[in-house]
Amino acid sequence: MSKKIAIDGPAGAGKSTIAKIVAKELGFIYVDTGAMYRAMALYMINNNIDASDSEKISATCQSADITIRHEGGVQRVYLNGEDVSELVRKEEVGKMASASSVNGDVRKKLVELQQKLAQTTDVVMDGRDIGTVVLPDADLKVFLTASSRVRAERRYKELTEKGEICDIDAIEKDIIDRDYRDSHREISPLKQAEDAVLVDTSDMTIDEVAGKIVDLYNNVGAKSSF
Ligand code: DC
Repeated sequence: MSKKIAIDGPAGAGKSTIAKIVAKELGFIYVDTGAMYRAMALYMINNNIDASDSEKISATCQSADITIRHEGGVQRVYLNGEDVSELVRKEEVGKMASASSVNGDVRKKLVELQQKLAQTTDVVMDGRDIGTVVLPDADLKVFLTASSRVRAERRYKELTEKGEICDIDAIEKDIIDRDYRDSHREISPLKQAEDAVLVDTSDMTIDEVAGKIVDLYNNVGAKSSF
């Protein structure tokens, strides 16, 4: 049976950076489910669908073909045959993803795709509902978090390094608003699975967090082999 590690948590907690390192270390495939929700959001934007029009979102998502491929160990996301891996990182796509991901039909379609991927491959999968909904039988579940200020500082650094001018208080407000939306939606809200290990990354380095998760996984493996 394939091995599964689920990493959930709010935006900016360091999930993707950490999950990539853990996957590489263990020889697993890293699956970024946020990129799938972003690809779906891009499809909505391209079709001029309003973020609040749930009926249109339900109907439109049926014709979106979202696939992921791994090239040189890196995940690429395709929307109807086009590689949209870079396009989906845009701020407006992230905003639309936070709105369109509340839709039950969007979630059903993407959860099925995610479950199928994990059936045949060892995965480190990150998202918001991986431990609770997508992979309830994961070998290890981690809930990564950090204070909103620390997450805003990380995002600020990332954006200023890219040459973008931004305001840290506005970024923090955006993070708090997004957390609220992600954790208060009706379907699959962001929440820690009962059997997930909580890791607060506010005062930890990336390597410390990744090392801790690999240790946790190896300990789970050791326990289950007795
Ligand atoms: O992790 P991210 O910022 O790339 O995710 C984009 C949006 O998609 C985010 O607002 C929440 C949503 N999402 C989700 O609802 N479920 C997931 N498993 C992953 C992401």
